[in-house]
Amino acid sequence: MASREPHYKSKITPYVFACWILAAFGGLMFGYDIGISGGVTAMDDFLVKFFPHVHERKLHAQEDNYCRYDDELLQLFTSSLYLAALIASFFASKACTKLGRKPTITMASTFFIAGAIICASAEKKRMIIAGRILFGVGVGFANEAVPLFLTEIAPQQHRGAVNILFQLFVTIGIFIANLINYATVMIHPNGWRVSLGLAAVPGLVLLAGSLFIMETPPSLVEMGRKEEGREALRIIRGVDDVDAEFEQILAAAEQAKQGKHHFRRLFKRSNFPPLFVGTIIQVFQQFTGINAIMFYAPVLFRTLGFNSHASLLSSVITGLVNVGATFVSIYAVDKIGRRKLLLQASCQMFVSQMAIGVILSTHLQATGTMSKGLAAVVVILVCTFVMSFAWSWGPMGWLIPSEIFPIETRAAGFAFAVSTNMIFTFVIAQAFLSMLCHMRSQIFFFFSAWIVAMGLFVLFLLPETKGIPIDQVEERLWKKHPVWSSFYKEEGSEYGMA
Ligand code: BGC
Repeated sequence: MASREPHYKSKITPYVFACWILAAFGGLMFGYDIGISGGVTAMDDFLVKFFPHVHERKLHAQEDNYCRYDDELLQLFTSSLYLAALIASFFASKACTKLGRKPTITMASTFFIAGAIICASAEKKRMIIAGRILFGVGVGFANEAVPLFLTEIAPQQHRGAVNILFQLFVTIGIFIANLINYATVMIHPNGWRVSLGLAAVPGLVLLAGSLFIMETPPSLVEMGRKEEGREALRIIRGVDDVDAEFEQILAAAEQAKQGKHHFRRLFKRSNFPPLFVGTIIQVFQQFTGINAIMFYAPVLFRTLGFNSHASLLSSVITGLVNVGATFVSIYAVDKIGRRKLLLQASCQMFVSQMAIGVILSTHLQATGTMSKGLAAVVVILVCTFVMSFAWSWGPMGWLIPSEIFPIETRAAGFAFAVSTNMIFTFVIAQAFLSMLCHMRSQIFFFFSAWIVAMGLFVLFLLPETKGIPIDQVEERLWKKHPVWSSFYKEEGSEYGMA
């Protein structure tokens, strides 16, 4: 399904490059959050202040290895953010459509900064949860607006790479958060305040950036500001002759005008393929089990018998692997395409998870620890797993849903993808420690089974989006796909709420 479409003219100007980087700071905010909570919830000072009963339990060395950190309230600290983000992403989609991508990014950073201030000054459990909720609203707004922004201002031939800047910054955020936790764990008793408060830094950069970047041409046209849209396209592409591409944006917007109810249109039969694919990709992304590692790596490594220092250090190592491997995807996504990366990674992730499951089930009992050598092998397997996620399901989870919807349902459809990501991130964040306690090492076999399902999905149901102009997805992608084309045969028939 390779593209034979001539590329529209474009140059990469310093201004456009700066827009990409500044917007990608939205990813850094998200990543910082993912990375910071696992380390904070493993800090004694934090536990003593907000979750003393968990701290008590942790002190009992005889206690079951797999159950030491199983506590619903503690998990709620991590997961409340995702619940808030899930609800916020629908408001963010409205803001994206009515006000544009740029102001939605400004709002995201403002919520995030407020969250950082409240968390850093929290005295009561209620305050810490309220701060997390504000963080969550910020993440919901940023995760909706930033990938759409990047996809819409990227030249078609570099769309994958530009969009993956978001994921790259997510991984950098996770890594920086791990490093910060590594240092703040030594600051008593307020190290956790520093960890949570420093989240304001990426928020501030994004806030400043959001005032500097320009609105995307499709969004301007969608809001009826055509001439500004043409001018924006000229600046973004760095060339004067943008007629061909602009005509395409206008045509797509013209078609979109036929219906104003974006969410209702989303449930038309002909929108089922992108809606299904965009949503299931996010479900799969979370069921790779990545966040069991991202949130709880320090806890997981302690379960293996590492001391708290070694555990944080191991999570710094996995964080570095996560950043490094994302570059592979930036390099490869527009060359070899999305499908091949996803298929290769599914195989590598399956082998890694299975091997971790086998080692833990044969060598880590409820009490006692593993040998140092075997624990090191597990760390290496976690790295091969994280590496393959980082060049596949991580970035594709944000890229593919942003490029498969036609303009009229893009923001609404992408909101479904974002909120699905948040629901399942919430589920994993909330359930993982209990699952670890009840399923023990079997949890890794559980994730392996999901990985098989996702590999089959890519093989049979996922079309290749590399090189297809986003304003022609319906004609060029869905209507040509052996399975999905059947949804376009009887136009007008609807399902669901339409
Ligand atoms: C996912 C996050 C995950 C991160 C890891 C993102 O794409 O949405 O849930 O923690 O990748 O790098």
